[in-house]
Amino acid sequence: MKRILVTGGAGFIGSWLVESLLDTQSCHVTVLDDLSTGQHQHLPTNYPKHLHWIHGNVNDRGTMEACMKHGAFDHVFHYAAVVGVARTQKHPMKVLEDIDGLRHVLELSHQHGIQRVFFASSSEVYGEPVELPQHEETTPLNSRLPYAVVKNLGEVMMRAYHQELNLPYTIFRFFNTYGPRQSEDFVITRFTQLALKNLPITIYGDGSQTRTFCHITDNIQATTKALFQGRCVNEVVNIGNPHQISILELAAKIIEQTGSHSEIIHLPALPEGDMQRRQPDTSKMEQLIGRPLKPLDEGLMDTISYFRQRAQES
Ligand SMILES: NC(=O)c1ccc[n+]([C@@H]2O[C@H](COP(=O)([O-])OP(=O)(O)OC[C@H]3O[C@@H](n4cnc5c(N)ncnc54)[C@H](O)[C@@H]3O)[C@@H](O)[C@H]2O)c1
Repeated sequence: MKRILVTGGAGFIGSWLVESLLDTQSCHVTVLDDLSTGQHQHLPTNYPKHLHWIHGNVNDRGTMEACMKHGAFDHVFHYAAVVGVARTQKHPMKVLEDIDGLRHVLELSHQHGIQRVFFASSSEVYGEPVELPQHEETTPLNSRLPYAVVKNLGEVMMRAYHQELNLPYTIFRFFNTYGPRQSEDFVITRFTQLALKNLPITIYGDGSQTRTFCHITDNIQATTKALFQGRCVNEVVNIGNPHQISILELAAKIIEQTGSHSEIIHLPALPEGDMQRRQPDTSKMEQLIGRPLKPLDEGLMDTISYFRQRAQES
């Protein structure tokens, strides 16, 4: 049995990871989450003996020390972070607190002989793009906003702990990910929920800004293969999908796929933080998962049916 800690494991990506690890029946998983944006009900219920739940804050030293002391973990997935464009821009001080969590994860992982730390970084480290597609090794990082700078610092810390203390790491640079359980802060969830209620869909600016969207199953398959196949050790991997779509087209697609009567309303463009373009080079990820990435049309189907069911239940 592999003993694994997932910080932020009650969140969107974390809970899918936890479920996938437990499904292998070869892992004991501990989830540490403060439920600031995650939900306990996201956690799977079918392997209670193999899942240990801790309600706590990664940025609190005592909590992390106790968790690491009793866990006897082999691997740590550090996914806890303040997320969401609006939240991170409104609370930059809160974002900076995540630097404490990074230090705790790394210091204690070193102390406890963890085999590898997997870090959820972000496409935001690329900042306003200097080239497309964005490549892990060759594209310069252009981070400026607090969330992006903290993710960038997290990457630097991973490399430093490896270089000086020989702690292995893998950095996942997640690009926009979507799927069931994602919170309302994110564009596909927001558009889908509005469309299902036939409410107006608001977009910033003219909607020509493009995004790329990675279905959660592609994300999980890549990250779990990195773990189980011992791949991407001391490397950075973009986890995303290179297909670009404009925000306006995305809204129209969701309206069509939900059969909605929502109208699209344009708001003034955001002053900052709304990147015009972003596109990962996914060669490394595609090699890792060894199959084509899921197209958006297909991925939207399970996302829409999840939110449709939730709307019917509420
Ligand atoms: N979803 C994406 O498209 C995306 C893109 C880039 C990077 N990421 C990164 O992936 C990770 C997971 O994101 P997500 O989309 O699942 O978001 P999420 O909000 O669903 O998950 C984050 C989880 O971390 C928990 N958390 C936050 N701060 C914590 C703290 N101090 N202590 C303990 N728990 C804490 C939250 O309660 C939540 O459950 C984050 O690190 C995020 O920055 C996500």
